[in-house]
This record gives sequence, C-alpha cells and structure tokens, in this order.
Amino acid sequence: MKTVSILGSTGSVGCATVDLIKELPDEYVVDSLTAHQNWQLLAEQAKVLKPRYVAVAKHEYYQPLKSALAGQNIQVASGEKAIIEAGAREVDLLMAAIVGSAGLLPTVAAIRQGTTVALANKECLVSSGEILIKELNKSKAKLLPVDSEHNAIFQVFETHNKSHLDRLILTASGGPFRDCTLEEMKEKSPTEALAHPNWNMGEKISIDSATMMNKGLEIIEAHYLFGVKEPVIDVLIHPQSIVHSLVSYSDGSVLAQLAQPDMKIPIAYTLSWPKRININMSRLDLAKVGLLEFYDPDVEKFPALRLARESINLGGSACLVLNAANEIAVAGFLAGKIRFTDIVTLVEKVLEKNIESAPKSIEEVILMDTEVRKFTESIVGA
Ligand SMILES: NC(=O)c1ccc[n+]([C@@H]2O[C@H](COP(=O)([O-])OP(=O)(O)OC[C@H]3O[C@@H](n4cnc5c(N)ncnc54)[C@H](OP(=O)(O)O)[C@@H]3O)[C@@H](O)[C@H]2O)c1
Repeated sequence: MKTVSILGSTGSVGCATVDLIKELPDEYVVDSLTAHQNWQLLAEQAKVLKPRYVAVAKHEYYQPLKSALAGQNIQVASGEKAIIEAGAREVDLLMAAIVGSAGLLPTVAAIRQGTTVALANKECLVSSGEILIKELNKSKAKLLPVDSEHNAIFQVFETHNKSHLDRLILTASGGPFRDCTLEEMKEKSPTEALAHPNWNMGEKISIDSATMMNKGLEIIEAHYLFGVKEPVIDVLIHPQSIVHSLVSYSDGSVLAQLAQPDMKIPIAYTLSWPKRININMSRLDLAKVGLLEFYDPDVEKFPALRLARESINLGGSACLVLNAANEIAVAGFLAGKIRFTDIVTLVEKVLEKNIESAPKSIEEVILMDTEVRKFTESIVGA
C-alpha cells in the first residue's frame, strides 16, 4: 500500500485524484488532505478516505471543519503553516495540486522531506525553477509531472538517449479562442473564457489556456523538469487533445503518448509510477476520433508564448515576475476589472519594470513574488 497526501484535494486535479484513490482502496492509504476554504467538500472527502490529517488554509473554517469531523480520529488544523505541515509529513507520494504560488512552500517542504512529488502545481516550478531543482538534487525526492503534456514527455523521454534529443513538442488545444480574431477576443467574458473545449479544469488554468499563458508556463515547466534549453521546446496546436506531447530524436524517430483528454490518466500514472495500474476508463478509439490535426500556433495572437520564451532567456527573476503578474491579472479579469486581452498586455508591462537578479532562496522568492503582486494589483486597480 502506498501512503498518499493530496494538497488541494478539493480542486479539479485534487478531486480526480480522490476519485481514483476511492476506486483503488487496496492500493492507497491517505495521510493528508488540504483545501483553501471549501471545508464542506474537504470534510466529505475525509469521511470517505479517513486520512490522519486535514488542513484548511483559512482559519475561519477550522471550527466548522473540526465539528464536521468530530469523532473521526482525524487531526484537524488550519492556516498556511498547517498546509506546509501537510507537505512535510512523511508519505510515499504527495499530490501537489494547490493552484498558484500558494503551493510553493508545501511543495518545498515535501521535497526537503525526500518525498516523491506528483507535481500538478506548475506555478511553483515557474516562479522558482532553479531553486526547486537545487532542492531536489540535495534530497532523495523526485518530481513526477502531472500536467498531461509533461506526463506524456515523461512517459516517452529516453533519459539514456538525452544526447540524441532533437525536440520536445508540447501540444496545445489552442483553448476556446483558437479561431477568434484579436478584435473578437477583446470582448470575451469570463464565462466564455472559462468554457474550455476539451478539458474540465479549475478557473485559473482555464483562463491561462484561453490566453495560452498556460502553454507559456508549460514551456518554462518543461525547461526545468527536463533540463532542456528553450529553443529545443516547440508548441504545436492539436485541437483534438489526443496526442499529449511528443519527443523527437536525432535518428528521426518521434515518440508520442496518446490518451483521452482526461486528467485521471496522467494522475494515475504518477500514483502508480514506476508501474501502471488498471483504472476505470473507456479505451481510446482512434477510428472514432478519425482526424488528428496539427499546426503552428499564432504567436501574434497569443503573445504569452513569446513572453514565456523571453522570460527564460532574460533569466534573473523574469519567470517569477511573469507568473506573479499573470496570477493577479487573471484574478483581475475574473473579477471584471480588466478585459481578456489586457491580461497578457499587463503581464508584459509588469515584466518590463520588475526584473531583478535571480532569487537565491525560497525566502527571496516569496518576497519578490509579494512585491510583484502588489505592483500588478496597483495597475489592475480596486
Ligand atoms: N485542472 C487540470 O486539469 C490541470 C491540468 C494540469 C495542471 N493543472 C495544475 O494543477 C494545479 C491545480 O489546478 P486545478 O485546476 O485543480 O485548480 P482548482 O480546481 O482551482 O483547485 C485548486 C486547489 O487549491 C486549493 N487552494 C487554492 N488556493 C489555496 C491557498 N492559498 N492555500 C491552500 N490551498 C489553496 C483549492 O482549495 P479550495 O477548493 O478550498 O478553494 C483547491 O483545492 C494548478 O497549478 C494547475 O495549473 C491542472
């Protein structure tokens, strides 16, 4: 039996992980579950999975959560430190599925503990990639990518043939506005931007998919996860979301992973790695899919791709700034304060004024991240 903790268990990735674990009671035992504020769902999950520890980030939900779990023999805690404590507990696998840079410290705690981390939270690798990789190299921890693209690459990347690597090719659905003009995108509402054609995801990543900042963040994520330079990473629009990414080698072979667009598949792979498990999933029927299309992205229409590449090449704190500014801009758009096309324009403005030398510690990452957020908030407005 593997002992597993799920940080962000009430989110889209978290719930998919909970569902898989519920299907496999003989394979996994749950140590910890955490949420930001959704204590009701957290309590429901805890009653079924019987973890040893649950934590909710917002202190005001401690009492209702504690009452809901009375008599269950589960330790209940609240606050940011309690979430970090969940990351630091000794387990075989930690699912890092908190959204945004709030996931950084608990993930670092898990890496320092030497835990194998299934990493969904791409933002923490984007904001502090070099530091996280150094932390990783100092411990016996491993990072298993949950993002479907990186999980696909992880499945077909022949590390022993790294010197023969030609390209990493990240596929992208293109999001809900793939076929819109820039003019049409200006007027898009949060509801329209949240309606992803292929994936059912949390709000932040759905908006990132619509701006294609998600793919930009994924370029940075791939750069750190697989230790490859930015120009080696390509993006290919693939509207059907069946081919999840590809690796091409210098002998002309291209290896790809194909699957239905369902996050349970990459999540299951990280849960069972290095083995595979049986999950309740309908088989991919390529004859039914029929057509698989691929084409180059329009970088004029989706400047987030350019910004992400520039951020890697600028170095210093650029990737951190890109990530923090984007989190605030997305929240501003969802709150109706800025237009859809302002998101990336704003990120570019913040990038122009805020790049410093690279943070040297996690503490410096937190300080810089806070500063960039404040700066971006001052532009987004009340
Ligand atoms: N969804 C996908 O299909 C998908 C695919 C690939 C990668 N990812 C990545 O996986 C991560 C999670 O995405 P998601 O779509 O599952 O997000 P989501 O549905 O918004 O869920 C986010 C989770 O994080 C918790 N959370 C939010 N802010 C927090 C804070 N300040 N402190 C502690 N916990 C906090 C939320 O708790 P509450 O529910 O209480 O708010 C929830 O459990 C993101 O980094 C995303 O980029 C997601």
